Amino acid sequence: MRMLLLTAGLVTFGAFRPAAAQLAPDTALYNRLGGVYAIATVVDDFIERLLVNNTLNANPRLAEARARVPKAGLKFQVAALVCQVTGGPCTYTGRTMKASHAHLNINEEQWQAMLADFRATLNKFSVPAKEQGELIGIVQSTKPDIVIAR
Ligand code: HEM
Repeated sequence: MRMLLLTAGLVTFGAFRPAAAQLAPDTALYNRLGGVYAIATVVDDFIERLLVNNTLNANPRLAEARARVPKAGLKFQVAALVCQVTGGPCTYTGRTMKASHAHLNINEEQWQAMLADFRATLNKFSVPAKEQGELIGIVQSTKPDIVIAR
């Protein structure tokens, strides 16, 4: 199995990887990304960028959520979701994308700002173009549930 995202100095667990993580075939995006430690590292960097993004914080609902929602919990939920939808052994237990974003009034400009931060994170960890394309496809598939209709 390749460990594509572990260039940031994380540990490669080799034979000590938990058995559950081996349920996904090597072809699963989850494994090509390097498993849950790599995914959590990417999510951590991504959410740190979002929290200081001025385009997002200009939206008062997002500024309010930034103060109210513990970032560690948000990172956990997003990492579990990404782990699950990429074929990993996690079970996402959070709300639907519609239920968790409807009150946030996220517009197209804010969506594009989020995507720019996401790409910056993926590039920082040298995620290859193929895997970047698959991840951005997953994110884009949620857009109708997250961006408010004008
Ligand atoms: C511009 C885009 C986005 C912004 C600004 C944003 C912001 C937020 C905020 C502020 C919350 C907390 C809401 C609350 O508890 O009141 C949240 C929750 C969440 N977001 Fe996003 N989000 C965006 C896109 C996405 C995308 C693309 C995904 C996944 C593909 C995602 C996954 C989640 C998850 C899993 C939660 C937690 C749900 C729960 O706690 O039950 N978000 N988001």
